Amino acid sequence: MNEQANAAKPREDVFQITIDGRALEVPKKPGLTIIQVCDAEGIEVPRFCYHPHLTIPANCRMCLVEVEGAPKLMPACHTGLRDGMVVHTRSDRVKAAQEAVLEFLLVNHPVDCPICDQAGECPLQDQYFKYDRRPSRVGDPVRKVKKAKHVQVGPRVTLDQERCVLCTRCIRFMDEVAKEPQLGMFWRNDHAYVDTFPGQPLTSNYSLNTVAICPVGALTSTDFRFRKRVWNLKSAPTLCDGCARGCNAWVDRDRDGNEVYRYRARENEAVNRVWMCDQGFLSYKAHNERRVLAAREGRGAAAKVGRSYEVAARTAERLRTLEGEAGLLVSACASTEDILATLWVAREVFGLSRVYEGGREEGEQDRILLRADRNPNRLGLQIVAEAFGFELLPFDALLEAVDDGKVKALWAVGDEVPVDAQMAAGLFSSLDFFGVQARHRGPLTEVADVVLPAATHASTTGPSSTSWGGCSASGR
Ligand code: SF4
Ligand code: SF4
Ligand code: FES
Repeated sequence: MNEQANAAKPREDVFQITIDGRALEVPKKPGLTIIQVCDAEGIEVPRFCYHPHLTIPANCRMCLVEVEGAPKLMPACHTGLRDGMVVHTRSDRVKAAQEAVLEFLLVNHPVDCPICDQAGECPLQDQYFKYDRRPSRVGDPVRKVKKAKHVQVGPRVTLDQERCVLCTRCIRFMDEVAKEPQLGMFWRNDHAYVDTFPGQPLTSNYSLNTVAICPVGALTSTDFRFRKRVWNLKSAPTLCDGCARGCNAWVDRDRDGNEVYRYRARENEAVNRVWMCDQGFLSYKAHNERRVLAAREGRGAAAKVGRSYEVAARTAERLRTLEGEAGLLVSACASTEDILATLWVAREVFGLSRVYEGGREEGEQDRILLRADRNPNRLGLQIVAEAFGFELLPFDALLEAVDDGKVKALWAVGDEVPVDAQMAAGLFSSLDFFGVQARHRGPLTEVADVVLPAATHASTTGPSSTSWGGCSASGR
């Protein structure tokens, strides 16, 4: 009897609620809102101003839902749970409110979707088709409030004030995440607009996140704008290799897979949440520019293009003859898979037991994401070198060994060096043999006896170990 009574007793650690007829038990957590439960349960609630990583102003009213017992519709993004709550997200009252909000938002909107760069990935366009889909009752476009178009608000961001739905996501991001309040809302009512402050452009190294979270085509990337329609792109998961943070990203290529057009941040709560820095966003360009596309032997006028595997085989023979005088340089930008393969060959084929550490020079660090170590995989290099019993020596030791004549031949995996590349190239050009496996043409490939092409990290599936000690994988 007691057991039966206990079984029937309501649990105190959960809310018993009903959404659209579904009975749910939701753990009692302070601040939990209806929209968060809907997102977790796969119940779609449209929204513009709500963003899970920003504060909640509840100003767009697109997420209104019906809560039984409440006199008015409630914003799902700002309404907390209570036990016994019954919520309707698709009732007639809710549908009428959604249509009204969309009609209201579009009263002064230019509806220039055919020439808008956001078309195809625009929540306003998508939600209009899903929740409204009625012709405008504002017949005369001349009566719409006119605002500024294509305003260059910063070096990387272009603003179209007419398309803005005043959700304030961009302003909140700059205040709360970037901690650089460079955007504000000016005037009021239907004349309100987003802008920068006089004489203070949007220069933050995190400005492109405002483009990513703007739910309409108001903020667009000056770099990506009008270069490609988004439905002509295909995406794959990757990592930004701009620093040791290893932000998770999507790489968007054209359908042939030949040209990379942009990076977008990919969610990883433990690493970058949903943000990236501008430097990282724009580092996609490295996939397209100055690429080494074919194997090459010889220098200057004597240089000849060859098949990669034949050139690699001849290079291996040559390095074998220089046993005892050969050095190995591995970049901390290489993926863990590449480092594993390199060190295995170096140990088993060439009998090497030392590796010199290459990689990019240190840079400035900030308090958000960007790390001073601009190499995505220094930790991976250290771990693999130790596992293979290699002595890992700093780059300065290589310069000394070349200067002293202790290293007469060098094989480099990656052309990133933590010193002036021209200076390093000058020194390496004096070696009996210098070969490099590189993604990009530069001072080192200019003076190399052999150059082998290497894939960029977004074209391979290799993992990188990042400064936070985790391991993330790039996809093809
Ligand atoms: S510019 Fe975009 S993100 Fe900023 S308030 Fe307008 S719609 Fe929202
Ligand atoms: S913080 Fe580092 S890894 Fe992240 S986007 Fe910027 S450069 Fe790339
Ligand atoms: S998303 Fe809830 S009011 Fe804007």
